[in-house]
Amino acid sequence: MLGLVLLSMVVSSQAFPSFTSGLEAACSSCDGIPEHDSVVPQQSYNPLDVLYEIDEDGSFIHIKISSDRPFRGFMIKPSSAGFFGLGENTTLLHCDDGLDALTHKNAIDKVSITTMFIRTANEPRWISFRITLVEKFDVFWPPSTLDIYL
Ligand SMILES: *[C@@H]1O[C@H](CO)[C@@H](O)[C@H](O)[C@H]1NC(C)=O
Repeated sequence: MLGLVLLSMVVSSQAFPSFTSGLEAACSSCDGIPEHDSVVPQQSYNPLDVLYEIDEDGSFIHIKISSDRPFRGFMIKPSSAGFFGLGENTTLLHCDDGLDALTHKNAIDKVSITTMFIRTANEPRWISFRITLVEKFDVFWPPSTLDIYL
C-alpha cells in the first residue's frame, strides 16, 4: 500500500508528562523518558531516523529506527494493542496500561533496530508510536511521535 517513508521530517519531538510505576524496569519508564538518575533529555537536534512500511491490509507495520551515530537504547511504545516481533537486541517492557513497549535487551552499541508490529485492534484507523532514542546513559532525547494512518 505505502512505500518507505523517510520520517525524519514528520517526526515531532515533544515532552510527555512523567509518571512511574514500581512494576517497571529500573532504567525505563513507559512514558518514554528514561529514569537515569537526574539526567534530563537533550535539547539538541534529535538524530533519530524512522522508516516504516505497512503491509497491504494494514495489520503488519515494519519499523526501522536508526541514528547517524551508534546508540545503546531505545523504546517504542504503541498507542493501541498489538504484538512486536522480537530480535537479538530487543525485548518487551510491560507497561501498566496493558500495552507492551519494545526496548533494548542489552547496552551494546547499535546501528539500527528493525521490528514488526502486528495490530490486534482494528480501530482506530490510525496508530501512534512514541519513540525514544538513548545514545548512552546520560544522552537521550525526548520521545518523538510517529503517527500512522491506515
Ligand atoms: C544486534 O546488535 C549488534 C551490535 O550492534 C549487531 O551486530 C547485530 O546485527 C544486531 N542484531 C540484529 C538482529 O539487528
